[in-house]
Amino acid sequence: MKVLVIGGGGREHTIVWKLSQSSKVDKIYCCPGNAGISEIAECINIDDNNFEAVADFVKYEGIDLTIVGPEAPLSKGIVDVFEKNGRKILGPNSKAAQLEGSKVFSKDLMRRYGIPTAEYKVFTSYLHAEDYVRMKGAPIVIKADGLAAGKGVIMAKTVDEAIAGLKLIMKDRAFGEAGNRVVVEECLDGEEASFMAFTDGKTILPMVSSQDHKRVFDGDQGPNTGGMGAYSPAPVITPEIESVIMEKIMRPTVNGLQSEGIKYKGVLYAGLMIRDNKPYTLEFNCRLGDPETQPVLSRLKTDLTDIALAIADERLSAINLEWKPEVSVCVVAASKGYPGAYEKGKVIKGLDDAGKLDDVIVFHAGTAFNKNKIVTAGGRVLGVTALGKDIKDAKEKAYKAIEKIHFSGMHYRKDIADRAIKRQ
Ligand code: AMP
Ligand code: GLY
Repeated sequence: MKVLVIGGGGREHTIVWKLSQSSKVDKIYCCPGNAGISEIAECINIDDNNFEAVADFVKYEGIDLTIVGPEAPLSKGIVDVFEKNGRKILGPNSKAAQLEGSKVFSKDLMRRYGIPTAEYKVFTSYLHAEDYVRMKGAPIVIKADGLAAGKGVIMAKTVDEAIAGLKLIMKDRAFGEAGNRVVVEECLDGEEASFMAFTDGKTILPMVSSQDHKRVFDGDQGPNTGGMGAYSPAPVITPEIESVIMEKIMRPTVNGLQSEGIKYKGVLYAGLMIRDNKPYTLEFNCRLGDPETQPVLSRLKTDLTDIALAIADERLSAINLEWKPEVSVCVVAASKGYPGAYEKGKVIKGLDDAGKLDDVIVFHAGTAFNKNKIVTAGGRVLGVTALGKDIKDAKEKAYKAIEKIHFSGMHYRKDIADRAIKRQ
């Protein structure tokens, strides 16, 4: 079968790598892909905002299945276009993707179905929002309603910071229309974890848990990033907590949407805060996490095409997810300046040496070819991932591998997975 993957980051390299191991897959295309992806898939350059053009390509090439990586095409309705054309695609349609595309939509849904989350209020008026922030005090969290490339959440330690955040979103319109409404919410403390599941709108199959590292520097210091590393499983998610997540968060979300006429099909990702052994939902994403996909899919034994086709045909109950017993750690190498403005075009050395090590996979994120050299082309450049018998073993292998890689300005966290190791 022929499969197309939409996207060009570390998550998509992992999806393509996983597909490349399937005996059922003859050919993989990726739009737009990256240097690492181009070694195992044909990278194509169609405007991925032009869904009709992508659907035409799929028809012309006889592609049997499309898997969407990032949230933007899902929110903008790529699945709606494919379904209209009778093409199989993994991901929720635009109505279901509002779960990630609108914080107001997802918070209101959580309220309607009693899903545990932080207390909140929605504002369209700057003055009312400011009054509320002054009344509540700090710490407090300010969120732009719409997609803001991961930058629309302001964790304010003081009332002044909160007000500056409100101004940025509502007055300066830093995120454009995404800031038409804001959610002002209670700040929760605890330990964060990521919980992803496959669903066809009826059956929900949980994946193994994982934990991201959002801050750029060791010890969770510095600004938020897309994620500087991840490991799987997250020991903070005990089997007891997992059943609470399934019963009190995942099931009511899928059923709640269903009862409102929205069928959620694809990957449902809950970003969680675990406080006093209880899970609270910080956010929903409508796709696989990045970098969580790297450690999670590298542990998946089941053929991804079987899962995706079962979701498309709404027979996921027939699938049994199987996982490798090894655990996994992914360390992200980033460009100088990231998560701010960053350098590009730096030659990357040592990729082959790192990739040759046992149990190591070097997933590319922001990479490209310059003539025959692989160069940096994004903020997050690589996700060096290793499997091991325990987290410490996987961490050691991942760091041994990343130490073989070099590009000018490269930086990475040295403490990925330390929290999990301390728990053991
Ligand atoms: P979100 O996009 O809503 O997940 O927010 C991005 C990040 O901000 C989360 O991963 C958390 O680190 C943090 N965050 C969001 N909401 C809260 C909250 N209510 N309390 C504490 N941290 C939060
Ligand atoms: N790693 C967080 C995300 O994918 O949203």
